[in-house]
Amino acid sequence: MPGPWPLTAERDARGALTIGGVAVTDLAREHGTPLWIVDEHDLRQRCQRYVTGFPGVDVVYASKAWCTVGLLQLVDQEGLLVDVASGGELHTALVAGVAPERLVFHGNNKSIEELDRALEVGVGRIVVDSFDELHRLDRLAAARGTVAPIWLRITPGIDAHTHDYVRTGHDDAKFGFTLSLGLADEALSTARELAHVEVLGIHAHIGSQIFGTDPFIANAEVTLDLMARWREEHGIVLTELNLGGGMGIRYTHEDHPVEVARYGDAVVRTVEERCVALGYPRPRLLVEPGRAIVGPSTITLYEVGTVKPLPGLTTWVSVDGGMSDNIRPALYDAEHEIALVGRGSEVPPRAVTVVGKHCESGDLVRDHAPLPGDLAVGDLIAVAATGAYTASMSSRYNQLPRPAAVLVREGEVRELVRRESFDDLVRLDVPLFAREAQA
Ligand code: LLP
Repeated sequence: MPGPWPLTAERDARGALTIGGVAVTDLAREHGTPLWIVDEHDLRQRCQRYVTGFPGVDVVYASKAWCTVGLLQLVDQEGLLVDVASGGELHTALVAGVAPERLVFHGNNKSIEELDRALEVGVGRIVVDSFDELHRLDRLAAARGTVAPIWLRITPGIDAHTHDYVRTGHDDAKFGFTLSLGLADEALSTARELAHVEVLGIHAHIGSQIFGTDPFIANAEVTLDLMARWREEHGIVLTELNLGGGMGIRYTHEDHPVEVARYGDAVVRTVEERCVALGYPRPRLLVEPGRAIVGPSTITLYEVGTVKPLPGLTTWVSVDGGMSDNIRPALYDAEHEIALVGRGSEVPPRAVTVVGKHCESGDLVRDHAPLPGDLAVGDLIAVAATGAYTASMSSRYNQLPRPAAVLVREGEVRELVRRESFDDLVRLDVPLFAREAQA
């Protein structure tokens, strides 16, 4: 099966899908649909591929991709650090038991409360994104009588050719200090005048779902050149360099991402050669993948509820989830591979359009999906590579309770996230009147 499917995904004798030795038909019966199914072996393997593929580099898991207590415990066990980008992600990491010094705190608009909490618990590095934040953090650290360990987020002027919504390295970005406008230099000078922040290094993340090693090589070169120039001009030797995440993954059989070890090789070699050329001491290096860690480990299981063939037009297949559990097709025109998984079928495929159950035409799961011609109501279908930016971007549109997530491994199933109930949906609502008074 693999391609974009989890490493342990295979078909049993009846053609039904199993993951981690567990049949998806059993999972649907016991846990319902929609359901996120995480292949633990796949997830741990991907962590290890980064750890070994980037020798001598600290791997930071970007928890925005999927932030649940269990998942963070798992990546923590595998030796990854964790990037959090909000007070909520920070809280989740702390509840998971990740040591605060192993956390990196991102965000272009961290609130006073968020920054103060980061100082209070002793987050390892705070990535400063703006002048406002620099001053805010300095004041907060002063009030606590401490010095905040920071990296400056640099916008390096590298245009990674990816979807507009996930480009971040170009000059006119909302993130970071734009290098070409002199803002990175100004940020360093400002920070050095402040007594309660200490600049330890720089961070540059150029975008997401990037294929090819060139943008990463360019990022390493630009940032190292900057560090060397700062040594000349400011007499400061920064010792840490975080090159961000963004490594592309396979969503369909047509995607051909670069092997992790090739990314690692390209980045580490570039850094080492450049350091020799510049006579600069090799900094502590970090990379920050999110999607590439959790994305491919997970599938979403849906049940088909209606099949509507329009003669000469589209055959619409509706499933029991949709844009509330995966906004990516609607937001980025993302294509995830899809398959009939509850059984096998010898019937030749026909192109159908799979949609969700939301009251919106943009509620797309997959356009022109080649699914067997005998696809019928009650069939289970699965969408591949949904571990990253689906659950984490989920909503309750149309008051659909959020699905459950389970972890499977060698025939065992563990719940990662429980399914929301209808009561959960109204738990925080405050009625204006008692129900009897309404009648
Ligand atoms: N570091 C920083 C500072 C980031 O902003 C991001 C992602 C990452 C690391 C991890 O990038 P990754 O390795 O996951 O590509 N919702 C979009 C992706 C948004 C990415 C946001 N930042 C999607 O579904 O494609």
